[in-house]
Formats: sequence, C-alpha cells, structure tokens
Amino acid sequence: VSSRALFDLVEERRIYEEQGVERYVRYQQDNENVTLKPGPAFNFVKALEHVNARLRELYPDDEELFDIVLMTNNHAQVGVRLINSINHYGLTIERFCMTGGKSPVGYLKAYLTNLYLSADSEKVQEAIEAGIASATMFSANKDVPFCENQLRVAFDGDAVLFSDESEKIVKEQGLDRFFEHEQLNENKPLAQGPLKGFLEDLGKLQKKFYAKNERLDCPIRTYLVTARSAASSGARVLKTLRSWGLEIDEALFLAGAPKGPVLVKIRPHIFFDDQMFHIEGAQQLGTIAAHVPYGIGQKYYKSKPMTAVLKSSLP
Ligand SMILES: *[C@@H]1O[C@H](CO)[C@@H](O)[C@H](O)[C@H]1NC(C)=O
Repeated sequence: VSSRALFDLVEERRIYEEQGVERYVRYQQDNENVTLKPGPAFNFVKALEHVNARLRELYPDDEELFDIVLMTNNHAQVGVRLINSINHYGLTIERFCMTGGKSPVGYLKAYLTNLYLSADSEKVQEAIEAGIASATMFSANKDVPFCENQLRVAFDGDAVLFSDESEKIVKEQGLDRFFEHEQLNENKPLAQGPLKGFLEDLGKLQKKFYAKNERLDCPIRTYLVTARSAASSGARVLKTLRSWGLEIDEALFLAGAPKGPVLVKIRPHIFFDDQMFHIEGAQQLGTIAAHVPYGIGQKYYKSKPMTAVLKSSLP
C-alpha cells in the first residue's frame, strides 16, 4: 500500500507541487508529531489486521497472515511522520519500502506482492502490465462507517476477476452479439483477470476459518458485483468460478443497473472495477472504489479524455 493510499496526504501533495520538495520535506518534519488522517486504503488495512488477529487466535503458530508493506517514494525524513501515524493508529506495518521515486515494480516483484494499492495511476498501470494485481485509490467523497469485525471485498467480474474477452464483444459488436456469445460458450470458462489471484488468497484464508467451524462467523466476505444479467450471461461466470474451485459469498447480477446503490448496502472496504463510470458512481454514494486499469474498457475511456479526469481526481 502506498503512503498516499493509506493516509490523506492531499494538503501535503499540494505543498509539494506548489512549493517544491525542500519546503515539502520541511513541512513534514515540522509536523512529524501531527497524526495524518486516514486515507482511502486505511479501513481496508484495518480490516486486514482484524482478520490477522482472528487468525492468530485460531492458529497461534501459523505464519499465513496478511503482510502489509508500505511503499513510498518519500524522503527518509518524511518517514518519521509516517511511522508516528502508523503507531498512533496501532497498525502493524513493519516493512517500509522507500523507492526514492523509482518505479515500484521491481520491489513489488521481490516482495511477491499479491495486491498493490496506490494513488498514482501511472505506477498502478505499470504494475498491472507486469502482471501484479493492482488498483488506483481515490480519496473518499464521504465519511461512512465500515464493519469492524468483517473484511468485505467486492469485485467487478469482466476485466477484474476475469479477462476482458467478453467485454470486448460488448464494446465492439454490441449487447445482442454478447448474449449470444456467452450462451454459446456457457461451458467454456473465462480466462483469468488481474484480481483473480487476490480472490484466491482470500478464499484460502476463509477455508482456515471453515476448518475451525467458523463459517458463519468468518471475518472475510467476498462479493461479485457485475453489470451482467443472471439469466442471459450469469451462468458462464458462475461456472468459471466453480471450475477454478473458488467460492464467492454473494453474487449480484445487476443487468446494467447502477452499482452504487447496491454497494451502499454491502459497505465493502474496497470495491474493484475497471470502468471509471462505475468507480465514480460508487464513490458518489460513499463507497471506497479502486480502479483496475486493465482491458478494453481503458481504450474506450481514453478516447473520451477520461485519463485527464482520472489524473485530476488524484490527490
Ligand atoms: C516530536 O516529539 C518528540 C518527542 O516528544 C520531540 O523530541 C520532537 O522534538 C517533536 N518534533 C517536533 C517537530 O515538534
């Protein structure tokens, strides 16, 4: 997780951009005892740590836990404020990776990263291209309460858990051709998308709770929130998950209806989607949404100068 995803550094970023690096470092040093406010990934990280606490109770000698690494290109002097803030909130983040402005991809690979969250869309894009599950995080529009004893993760389907092969057909040949194609190929599993591995990791940990008879009280819950409709194109998705041996706790087929209102009911700590209009719709209603820059959807929003929108909405 990057420092700008974990903490709210909007004001600090402004100082950096308007007044330069020296003033920025000075400011961070002068304010090293002022706790940073939570950023978009904060509640997600807290929920991961809650799962860790539950795992430690059940498996005291087991090392299979979430391991959170802070990735930052900040100056070492700024590290003091980050450490003070991490300690203030009682987070367990022992590893820092200070990249000094270099691309994080090499480090992400060295750490065998399962998921990379950052506020920098270019770094996320690079990581996706290197085959690392990653997403861009935006500051939340609203302050909403989150479930404290259950980690909730929501995924879009096409171009997130699955490849974009079917989305390509929607965009290039239209919906009718897509329905036809999905029905014809109902028994052919979809190829995997960039976030499949992370769902798999969550599934592995869920099984550790099931093995201790804690299925009903499992602190991890996963959701599929897709624009597909159940009747015409849902079966292929469910059969694909089954062929991978993966369970998803709840599958919501919205048949093109907006995702925002459903996400308000779920209150996920993070919602992954590849299309900016779903991200924006989710955000407007207070959901923490993370953009996965993968697949055909990107080409379409680039042609509608959405890259500019994406960049300007970053802190
Ligand atoms: C922050 O607190 C520490 C410990 O109380 C103190 O030594 C240090 O001078 C403080 N820093 C600033 C910039 O006030």
